[in-house]
Amino acid sequence: MRRKTFLITAGPTQEPIDPVRYLTNHSSGKMGYALAQAAKKLRHHVLLISGPTQLPPPPGIKFISVTTAAQMYQAVMKNFKKADVIIKVAAVADYRVQKVFRKKIKKKSKYLVLKLVQNLDILKELGKKKSKNQILVGFAAETHEALKYAQKKLKEKNCDYLILNNVAKKGIGFGSDKNSVVILSKKGNPISLPPMPKTKLAFRILNVLNSPRFSG
Ligand code: PMT
Repeated sequence: MRRKTFLITAGPTQEPIDPVRYLTNHSSGKMGYALAQAAKKLRHHVLLISGPTQLPPPPGIKFISVTTAAQMYQAVMKNFKKADVIIKVAAVADYRVQKVFRKKIKKKSKYLVLKLVQNLDILKELGKKKSKNQILVGFAAETHEALKYAQKKLKEKNCDYLILNNVAKKGIGFGSDKNSVVILSKKGNPISLPPMPKTKLAFRILNVLNSPRFSG
């Protein structure tokens, strides 16, 4: 495979509610960091854009740290044009609190209603903006009707590949050291990769993505 430039996003985003609270999800960053390290080992250039995780920035990899979906959007939009391959592993919050409270919300009434507003869909924007030579890879974390939703995302977000994670299955997905995925592509049949350490799976995924078009 010729040396390429990869842009990989990883981890969760955190959407502030007030100075002490935020909305987030269970992403640990392990899958995205494993892919970044595998691509680096295969001698590609890698830029990793990461939400807040417990993982140290991998050595030898360009690294941008972000917190919110809006910051991830800015960082991705600023850098994606240089990338040959973009892999969006990050679990980006679909919603943020419309109006972030400047002071800590005090416990008063029994119910507290927060109004949420949709974040921009970074993957979908990339699907509109990418050039013909760029490979766009999305991930999907689903709990039910997984294949149906993944196929919908592949099409609607104009991805070349969509990597499906069934996060309802125990022992894989969020936080775990192991994962199992189904890789969908615009062209061929879905490819299932069985449960294995994320560090190993990362190489298997890159291998599958290395189709004739990919290696071109
Ligand atoms: O980090 P780990 O603990 O190792 O877990 C790995 C993982 C389960 C997080 C990962 O394998 C995974 O499935 N990532 C995708 C999580 C996700 O947000 O899925 P989604 O189906 O909600 O989003 C679909 C795609 O759209 C993703 O590529 C996501 O990055 C992108 N998206 C979503 C919302 C948004 N506002 N902007 C986006 O770009």
